[in-house]
Amino acid sequence: MNVPFLDLKRQYETIKQEIDASVQRVVNSQSFILGKEVKEFEDKIADYCGAKHAIGVASGTDALLLSIKAIGAGQRKTDKVITTTFTFFATAGAIVNAGAKPVFVDIDPETYNIDTKKIEKFLNANPDLHGEIKAIIPVHLYGQMADMDPIIKIAQKYNFTIIEDAAQSFGAEYKGKKAGNIGNLGCFSFFPTKNLSGYGDGGMVITDDDDLAEKIRMLRMHGCKTKYYHPIVGYNSRLDALQAAILGAKLPYLDQWLEARRENANMYNERLGKLDGLKIPETDDGNLHTYNQYTILIEDKKRNDLQQCFQLQLRRHHRYLQVP
Ligand SMILES: Cc1ncc(COP(=O)(O)O)c(C=O)c1O
Repeated sequence: MNVPFLDLKRQYETIKQEIDASVQRVVNSQSFILGKEVKEFEDKIADYCGAKHAIGVASGTDALLLSIKAIGAGQRKTDKVITTTFTFFATAGAIVNAGAKPVFVDIDPETYNIDTKKIEKFLNANPDLHGEIKAIIPVHLYGQMADMDPIIKIAQKYNFTIIEDAAQSFGAEYKGKKAGNIGNLGCFSFFPTKNLSGYGDGGMVITDDDDLAEKIRMLRMHGCKTKYYHPIVGYNSRLDALQAAILGAKLPYLDQWLEARRENANMYNERLGKLDGLKIPETDDGNLHTYNQYTILIEDKKRNDLQQCFQLQLRRHHRYLQVP
């Protein structure tokens, strides 16, 4: 018996009426592409994050790709984008697909996020690359934001754009500011495993920059602003109205769900924190962690024992609840 990584059915059961009603509303309207549902959801996200613009796109991967394209990184073969060595493949994949080259900087082993001291070290050691680096993509891994103050300083000093990969950290905060709303652009994923999750793929870009917002709106619609006029080549990358309606129904519950994640994490921290050879997740000062994933680091030789222990607990729990 494996411990399930995620059980989406339980969440659905608690909000079934709202979800079913929002799906029915879209089906009744027969309006599936952009329109009122997407606009209303974009406004809610902009409001939640404190951003001026929110643009719904087809996935978190596309949120990154369109953001990189919007700032023009990748137009020249020499263009480079700094990111972390430890992330989901999509971060580096989007950089390559935009035509730029990823430059990897190692992580801080305490938080698993990019080590800001190593960014400076890398830049000092490679002065010839300064003009080629167009952007930096810090990734807020597992639900906790990267250390943004030093990243802002570095970006200002070297004139980079900051694109936050907040796919795993919707709702997280750094010194009171929401994930995605510190850099020039913030990217979210609504993949079913994420903090705010759709019933399929979905993503969002937030920004305070009017020009970048307009560019991303064009890029998601084949490069057009006015129907059938295409000043640039874009993509078909829109957030579905059905996804927007479902996500909009879930958003009011998000903060309480994130609080429940933190409570569970505290419970794990208390119990697992006592074990030797096991490192529980660290939360940096000023961060509000959302524990999209609760990740521990454990010595190889102890890993299997811990896994068996969890499986035993699960079996006992199922017997207690009389789950077949
Ligand atoms: C850090 C990170 N970046 C980007 C993505 C891509 O998001 P999506 O799966 O919505 O394309 C994900 C999630 O899958 C992710 O975890």
